Amino acid sequence: MIMLLKAENIGMTYPKSDRVILKEQSLNIERNDLIVITGPSGRGKSTLLAIAGGILRPTSGHVYFEDKDLYSLSDKELSDIHRTKIGYVPQSNVMLKDYNILDNIVMPFVLGDKNTDVNALKQKALELMSKFKIEDLEKRYPFELSGGELKRVSLIRALLPEPDLIIADEPTTGIDPQTSDIILDQLKHYSSLLKAVLIATHDSKAEGYASFVIRL
Ligand SMILES: Nc1ncnc2c1ncn2[C@@H]1O[C@H](COP(=O)(O)OP(=O)(O)OP(=O)(O)O)[C@@H](O)[C@H]1O
Ligand SMILES: [Mg+2]
Repeated sequence: MIMLLKAENIGMTYPKSDRVILKEQSLNIERNDLIVITGPSGRGKSTLLAIAGGILRPTSGHVYFEDKDLYSLSDKELSDIHRTKIGYVPQSNVMLKDYNILDNIVMPFVLGDKNTDVNALKQKALELMSKFKIEDLEKRYPFELSGGELKRVSLIRALLPEPDLIIADEPTTGIDPQTSDIILDQLKHYSSLLKAVLIATHDSKAEGYASFVIRL
């Protein structure tokens, strides 16, 4: 099977710093994989996720997504990949505070493509909300949700365009065990649909869901 994503010999030192965060780090992701990156705080998990996701250019090494070198693509090509193929969920939840939850989920796609069938998209968002057990929150506003609820909203927004790869930074951190199970079950299920999921976490339970674990 062709590799979905291949990160080769990644090295990372942030500008204006002399500390080496990552050294010769490689990572291969195939379809159906759910890969967990763990390790102590400050070890470079989020850094590696951002590099793998085409968001942060590494100091050395290459990231190939379906054989395309992410950091030699044009801005347009890279933003197309971010819109359709790689869904990135940062550690903090980014919400539009004046829009309700359903609008927060569909808004990026409605803005990104004038021909979007908004009602179909909302229907699909509602189905995902029900799978993540937050179907009753569609009309609420972000400030009315708990951290665990907002995290699920962020994940649903990333899942909506059915990207090949979901990258989620700490998707269950600070979330109760039952809700963590819902989130991990959904991510595992998603990966099994010929997709792939890459997460960074301190949650040791997540390792039980992984096809393999990378310890930094
Ligand atoms: N923009 C930046 N400029 C300089 N140093 C940075 C920057 N972002 C992160 N770092 C440093 O790089 C190191 C790795 O950070 P990173 O966020 O990848 O760690 P992490 O493993 O995700 O940690 P945590 O478990 O706390 O989320 C840390 O020491 C951090 O201070
Ligand atoms: Mg982190």
